[in-house]
Amino acid sequence: MGQFYEVAHKDDIPLGKMKSYEVDYDMVVICHTEEGYFALEDVCSHDSAPISDGTINRHGHIVCPRHGAKFDCKTGEVKAAPAVVGIDKFEIKIENDMIFVYKD
Ligand code: FES
Repeated sequence: MGQFYEVAHKDDIPLGKMKSYEVDYDMVVICHTEEGYFALEDVCSHDSAPISDGTINRHGHIVCPRHGAKFDCKTGEVKAAPAVVGIDKFEIKIENDMIFVYKD
């Protein structure tokens, strides 16, 4: 049965940045964009690079550091090749300025 895991304080992740955390044995990247905070699996679907080593562009897309694939921070869907498959996203909630990630 899944549960929410307390992962980070909101202030740990400045606007336009992302950070990687281990959550229940998986690496999860939390992104902070103009639209809020979002959590994705921290593994590029193209060749398994940690996408948290990349950047978030002005469209709210993560740019993979290895070959430049782009993923929507909000949904995990692919926005640019060479990746063709999206990245899993996780539900989050924020309570008392702490970010929680839901894992099954
Ligand atoms: S590993 Fe991310 S684009 Fe290739």
